[in-house]
Amino acid sequence: MNAIKNITLTGIIGLVLLAGLCGMQDLSAQTVWLDELDLSTATQGYGVPVKNKSLDGNTMTIAGQTFERGFATHAVSSLLVLTEGKANAFTAKVGLDDEMKGHEPAVEFEIYGDGNKLWSSGVMHLGDSAKECSVALTGIKKVELVVTDGGNGNYYDHADWVDAKFETTGVTTLKTYNPIASEPYILTPKPSDKPRLTGAKVFGVRPGSPFQFLVTATGDRPMEFSAQKLPKGLKLNPQTGIITGKLHEKRTYEVTLSAKNAKGKAERKLRIVCGDQIALTPPMGWNSWNCFAQEVSAEKVKSAADAMAKSGLINHGWTYINIDDFWNNHRDSEDASLRGELRDANGKIVPNKRFEDMKGLADYVHGLGLKIGLYSSPGPWSCGGCAGSFGFEELDAETYAEWGFDYLKYDWCSYGNVIDGLPDNDPYKVSSLSYNGGGELNTAMKPFKLMGDYLREQPRDIVFSVCQYGMSDVWKWGGSVGGNCWRTTNDITDTWVSVKNIALDQDKSAPYAKPGNWNDPDMLVVGHVGWGNTHPSKLKPDEQYLHISLWSLFAAPLLIGCDMEKLDDFTLNLLTNDEVIDVNQDPLGKQATCIQTIGDLRIYVKELEDGSRAVGFCNFGAEIVDAQYSDFEKLGIKGNVTVRDLWRQKDIAEIDTNTQKLAIKVPAHGVLLYKFNSGKY
Ligand code: GAL
Repeated sequence: MNAIKNITLTGIIGLVLLAGLCGMQDLSAQTVWLDELDLSTATQGYGVPVKNKSLDGNTMTIAGQTFERGFATHAVSSLLVLTEGKANAFTAKVGLDDEMKGHEPAVEFEIYGDGNKLWSSGVMHLGDSAKECSVALTGIKKVELVVTDGGNGNYYDHADWVDAKFETTGVTTLKTYNPIASEPYILTPKPSDKPRLTGAKVFGVRPGSPFQFLVTATGDRPMEFSAQKLPKGLKLNPQTGIITGKLHEKRTYEVTLSAKNAKGKAERKLRIVCGDQIALTPPMGWNSWNCFAQEVSAEKVKSAADAMAKSGLINHGWTYINIDDFWNNHRDSEDASLRGELRDANGKIVPNKRFEDMKGLADYVHGLGLKIGLYSSPGPWSCGGCAGSFGFEELDAETYAEWGFDYLKYDWCSYGNVIDGLPDNDPYKVSSLSYNGGGELNTAMKPFKLMGDYLREQPRDIVFSVCQYGMSDVWKWGGSVGGNCWRTTNDITDTWVSVKNIALDQDKSAPYAKPGNWNDPDMLVVGHVGWGNTHPSKLKPDEQYLHISLWSLFAAPLLIGCDMEKLDDFTLNLLTNDEVIDVNQDPLGKQATCIQTIGDLRIYVKELEDGSRAVGFCNFGAEIVDAQYSDFEKLGIKGNVTVRDLWRQKDIAEIDTNTQKLAIKVPAHGVLLYKFNSGKY
């Protein structure tokens, strides 16, 4: 990269000679433009860093003024530049790009030198003219250019650093960098060839509902499954491990499952609870949105289900194959496959041309031993503009049950219009009222209670996933409207900022998590994700370990969001660690909270059914944490304990917590996920 512009070699020699003649050193000050550096190391809340164009590829424009050079990014953004004392000054103009006209973004630009704030723009809005900044950098080794979300979330925050340049001493190059390691590494050991039973240890079903539970195990195939004390009414297919049938009595059954292959035999208990509550452990599966978005089709859903089985993920408890938005017809799309009547003459919802046979699709997925989910909105339109359930809730619940669906995600979307009294079928006014907090509590609860009640009346168990982004403290009432899980946050993206901010916001809802009622911090962003245009997750490997560890500690629904046909070894390693999954699926159903914070290290603790504790040493900082830990009592851990590293599936220490310390080395943006057991295994 050529970091020096407008200076010829003879010019440089001349300047150096002149400096020598004058007995001075610094006459050769140079200009290094920001856009001459490698900007790909920047982290940002959306999209990728762009040079000399806006984030969307237009001419950079701030309050009507255009610029040719600069760095376009999206809040929350950070770019680190190693100046090593070689830069004297940084100057730039900053502002929000006009391309987001019609929205209300706000940001704050900040400049840090060696960790100290040197300059800040104050909160800027769209239409504010470009602000000039000029900071002295003499002696500074590390400069960070930051764009915050201005305090109103990072929606539409297209931010421009224009005419941005460093003045350096002498002929030099400057380097950008990202302190987080980028080489993937595998921690999950390969499963043994002997059978090992995996997945949920407790399963809830309602009396009279069709029963379907897949006994899952790792180990060589063929494998033969059996069960002792299986209640009357249920039968187990010894080849597939699928248990089907019906229970009629409200009761708890303790069943012993076995799996046998040429190498050995394994046993494990399964508690079947026939009662009111389902989803006794957090739902695990896949959802089409983070991968296909509006491009979803029955073929893609089938392929995802096939891949769930073929990749072996099915053997670790992954169950649901969930279709998100765009399975039915759209109000005004130009895509012919999304156009057609919204409902038939009887008001029954009509799937679009890509989903010709919903019942056939559900049967296919069930045949693999998996379950299937669907999506709708309580408003007239889904978030993407397809028909919602408003006014047809009862019929829709009946239709989903008739097709054989096991899961419904019900997304607030245009319900804001209903509250505001806009015409129910107004095609163009799907407002962003979804973020207004939902107004009165009754208003917020009403549409979910309505659908929750109808689902409950169906002759099959349908997991009810409430999606309204965490408004009106949904965790306090989500269970009372029939919800089995509820989103606690806006949509996740595959950026560090998104995962971090969501993670840091989960503690307040934690006390409300319990079997049948789960807080949902949104779907997983590992593997190839991209909302219709996939790319490998932008999260660094350690960030992905942290993401999966935290979602397990949170007892969150685990919904893979990636292209299931592009699963690489690293992603499979993240999704097939049974000891990590066991933390998520623990029957006690507690959600971890952060018990202690030491600098950027946050320590999360989850109580487990067997009396042990899962502990996540989570490093949210950009530097490695290398320490001797001794505050065990704070974590509720006493006496002699065995410490097990869950990712490596290995006991790593036996310690007396009264007298001994534990050495912890946590990568930047990474995690150690340990289990502390009093007594031996
Ligand atoms: C959003 C929801 C996403 C996805 C999308 C579909 O409101 O949070 O998870 O379902 O709608 O349009």
